Amino acid sequence: MRVLITGGAGFIGSHLAERLVGMGHDVVVLDSEATGRPENVPEGADYRVGDVTRVADLEGAFGAGLDAVAHIAGQVSLIRSFTDPIADLRTNLEGTVNVLGCCLRHRVPRLLYASSMTVYGHNGTLPTPEDTPCTPVSYYGITKYAAERYVHTTAERPDLDFDFGVTSFRMYNVYGPRQAIDNPYQGVLGIFLGNVLRDEPLTIFGDGEQSRDFVYIDDVVDAWVSALTERASHGQVLNLGSGRQTAIKDLADQVLAAAGREDQMVTYAPGRPGEQRHVQADITRAGRVLGWRPRTPFAEGFARTVEWARSVMDEGSARAALP
Ligand code: UD1
Repeated sequence: MRVLITGGAGFIGSHLAERLVGMGHDVVVLDSEATGRPENVPEGADYRVGDVTRVADLEGAFGAGLDAVAHIAGQVSLIRSFTDPIADLRTNLEGTVNVLGCCLRHRVPRLLYASSMTVYGHNGTLPTPEDTPCTPVSYYGITKYAAERYVHTTAERPDLDFDFGVTSFRMYNVYGPRQAIDNPYQGVLGIFLGNVLRDEPLTIFGDGEQSRDFVYIDDVVDAWVSALTERASHGQVLNLGSGRQTAIKDLADQVLAAAGREDQMVTYAPGRPGEQRHVQADITRAGRVLGWRPRTPFAEGFARTVEWARSVMDEGSARAALP
């Protein structure tokens, strides 16, 4: 298959790109390099720098004819959605509408969309199944949800003259190698690992009792890959999480223990706006539709991530030590 991955130089997109290239697919990567890095793009992928907010950039990537699009490019920071709501709106919503426009013009039969567990907001049901009403509590959650609705409403349009199969993945806290360790706006595990390896205090927002559902990157990629060819997933919205809750305070303790730095300072700062309190995926539906289940125990994924973060830091200090 010829597959376009938007955001394919980023954390999740580049892992998907690597897997698909390894399977022998033709992969086109489009990335604005806002947070993505060219060195993440696997050899063999057709890499184009471009932004989903610019239709001309997308048209270039669609031009060669595609069997499927994995739309992963997005603004991922909740905080930034409040400090720069227009940028969040443009990238996450307008960008998705642009991708949809290209899919229709080029009659691309398959679109997988990177949605987020933040669409649920504060809801009482834990673990949370997909039919739970969505009441996002951050601007980010609103744009991810609106874009998800655009995707599914487009696929259901009665005026389409081709079969447009779409699937949205409501991803939970995806972690693993290549998650940024130097970006305070991207993913708590990467942030904590960067902190401890640079000898900085860890900051916990709020009381640290809030929980998240951490799912390993390879498991997430498994689901994306099997959905590509699974017709039963057309029209579906699927949670991708581990089904387990981890308190942020416990995560901080695990990072400190793994680094042998239990003495490291942990500071507390006020909770941030738009935060969910407890988060836990109900993953029954992805199991039923795709036969998917997360196969990586947290201890194993965590150990691989720590090892990777260490190697990146070592490389960085080796580079810094060069004359
Ligand atoms: C994250 C993603 C979001 C994705 C969602 C679901 C980021 C920035 N956000 O949101 O794009 O859609 O998961 O997968 O990757 N925390 C601290 N100290 C820190 C950093 C964070 O205590 O230094 C806390 C936060 O306040 C929060 C929790 O850790 O309670 C998780 O934060 P974070 O990893 O930023 O992500 P989410 O808000 O869960």
